[in-house]
Amino acid sequence: MRLKDKVAIITGSTSGMGRATAILFAREGAKVVVVGRNEKRAKEVVDQIRSEGNEAIYVIADMLNLDDVKNIFTRTMEEYGTVDILFNNAGMLSVTPLLDLSFVEWENVFRVNVTAPLILAQLVAPVMKEKGKGVIINTSSVAGAHAHHGYAAYVASKHALSGLTKSMAWELGPEIRVNAILPGAIMTAMVDSVGGEAAVKHLKEGSPLKKVGQSEEIATAALFLATEDSSFVTGQLLRVDGGIDI
Ligand SMILES: NC(=O)c1ccc[n+]([C@@H]2O[C@H](COP(=O)([O-])OP(=O)(O)OC[C@H]3O[C@@H](n4cnc5c(N)ncnc54)[C@H](OP(=O)(O)O)[C@@H]3O)[C@@H](O)[C@H]2O)c1
Repeated sequence: MRLKDKVAIITGSTSGMGRATAILFAREGAKVVVVGRNEKRAKEVVDQIRSEGNEAIYVIADMLNLDDVKNIFTRTMEEYGTVDILFNNAGMLSVTPLLDLSFVEWENVFRVNVTAPLILAQLVAPVMKEKGKGVIINTSSVAGAHAHHGYAAYVASKHALSGLTKSMAWELGPEIRVNAILPGAIMTAMVDSVGGEAAVKHLKEGSPLKKVGQSEEIATAALFLATEDSSFVTGQLLRVDGGIDI
């Protein structure tokens, strides 16, 4: 029970790696706030957590909507009265070629991938600072460290989130530790949306481990960053990618 009685907001936890992390954190004793747009899947995640005897609520929020983002914090404080962990994990993929990118798509990708994590951090930080302790984890990407052809808005937004992680670590310390996870190819709905395992075959074959990742392998990395096991770790971009690009 490494997160006993900790309150954890996990955005993008109706699916994929956020869902796996919500279930793991709850098993470790956290009270989890599940966040996404899809109420059916949000309810399923909360039901699963409660069926294991653990604690969770869900908040429906679209990261494109500022009021929705603020309401995640409001509902968390109403329900649990505090917050110890913020996992900014919701993300929007963009596979539009650079010259075809519209202003709206660019703006939306940045609002989901960069602006919402910033707003949530600004809201939770005073609570964590007052307590003298807190953890923020951002889901960047290997696309937040290297460019990949055809993903300009996504690459730029994840680079921005990687940089924001380091700025947050400077400005929210010493009470709050802030780190990012940079997943490689992880088998989730996001990868399914661009062609599934076949579409990431080159990443699999170009890695020492010769496999794609599973959501649970991100959840265990998030658990490390959320607990005192990583008490001397902040401002880091932790690649969990099977060793691609080494
Ligand atoms: N899978 C990969 O290979 C990979 C690699 C590197 C980085 N990542 C990053 O990992 C994170 C999690 O992605 P995943 O692979 O687990 O994908 P996923 O299974 O598709 O999950 C994405 C989650 O983000 C939420 N979300 C998306 N847009 C949202 C919005 N506008 N407002 C609120 N929630 C929104 C979704 O919830 P609803 O549908 O309920 O709204 C869902 O819970 C993302 O930040 C992604 O960029 C993924």
